[in-house]
Amino acid sequence: MTPIPAIETRGLTRTFESRKGFLFREVTRTEALRGVDLAVAPESIFGLLGPNGAGKTTFVKILSTLLLPTGGKASVLGHDVVDDSAWLRPRIGLVLGGERGLYNRINARDNLRYFADLYGIPTREREARIESVLERVGLTWAADRRVEEYSRGMKQKLHIARGILHRPQVLFLDEPTIGLDPKSARETRKLVRSLVSDGVTIFLTTHYMFEAEELCPEIAVMSKGRIVARDTVAGLRHLVGGDRTLEAEAYGFEDREVATLRALPGVSKIVSEEYGPKTRLTLRLRSLETTPDDVQAALPGHTELSVRERRTSLEDVYLDLVEEEAR
Ligand SMILES: Nc1ncnc2c1ncn2[C@@H]1O[C@H](COP(=O)(O)OP(=O)(O)OP(=O)(O)O)[C@@H](O)[C@H]1O
Ligand SMILES: [Mg+2]
Repeated sequence: MTPIPAIETRGLTRTFESRKGFLFREVTRTEALRGVDLAVAPESIFGLLGPNGAGKTTFVKILSTLLLPTGGKASVLGHDVVDDSAWLRPRIGLVLGGERGLYNRINARDNLRYFADLYGIPTREREARIESVLERVGLTWAADRRVEEYSRGMKQKLHIARGILHRPQVLFLDEPTIGLDPKSARETRKLVRSLVSDGVTIFLTTHYMFEAEELCPEIAVMSKGRIVARDTVAGLRHLVGGDRTLEAEAYGFEDREVATLRALPGVSKIVSEEYGPKTRLTLRLRSLETTPDDVQAALPGHTELSVRERRTSLEDVYLDLVEEEAR
């Protein structure tokens, strides 16, 4: 029997309407989500990647019952996020991060006491639970300090402590490492990984490809309110046309030159970008046939041309996908 997905959405949409202008007569509609279908297996880490404005936060807010959808269906742990929100709330956690949502004037322990009461954690259990989450996120040493004295990384850890205090089965993390230095980001990722081994399902959004690659066996890429791909990292590489990438740089290319390169064996795709005064062509390759030398040879007379090869990174995959969508 296949387990019930921890998260499932069907045709999920969300449109925002904002009014401005004289007497608020001008209405601007933003379709933040345009029909999202996604199923996420329990007890794993699932990553949602996407550029600014893709709809990631909107999606996470709907799944964590903070925002209502305008269409479609979403369920978490088999329960509808709209109809069963009261059942769901104690079972899910949300970490939006940033500066908001913590009380700066009081210390970390008192912050957690406040949230423990809000979550209805029995008083007799409260103190032990708080100590255990502080320990878990590595903040025991600073628990008596006021949050206003905390660094960004410490605040993020406290956010996560708050998010796991009520022992949720599903935890949503919206860009858990944004703005953190490499060391704090690494500690946060380690913490996230350790939560999964406790059986928590983690759904995280990120801008960082390597973070998704490091943490998430499966990834979905969102662009303009739609899921444009969903696969393992290896699968995504294959999807965008191969493991190999060649970059050719010069002061401009003519259309017929690009056409010549497109006709080389194994070339699945060419993307052109301006790089200061230069133009960079990125060639995606499905086979080993075409080498940097072949590219040089195909463009004789292009004296200041440089060509190099590198492995297709998850970032390439992501940019390809997002770009395709934009066309
Ligand atoms: N409350 C709101 N009112 C109006 N428009 C909104 C609102 N919240 C989000 N939007 C719009 O919906 C779209 C998706 O926003 P969302 O915050 O979900 O994107 P995101 O993928 O989280 O982006 P980022 O990576 O910058 O955090 C954007 O165009 C945004 O301007
Ligand atoms: Mg966001």
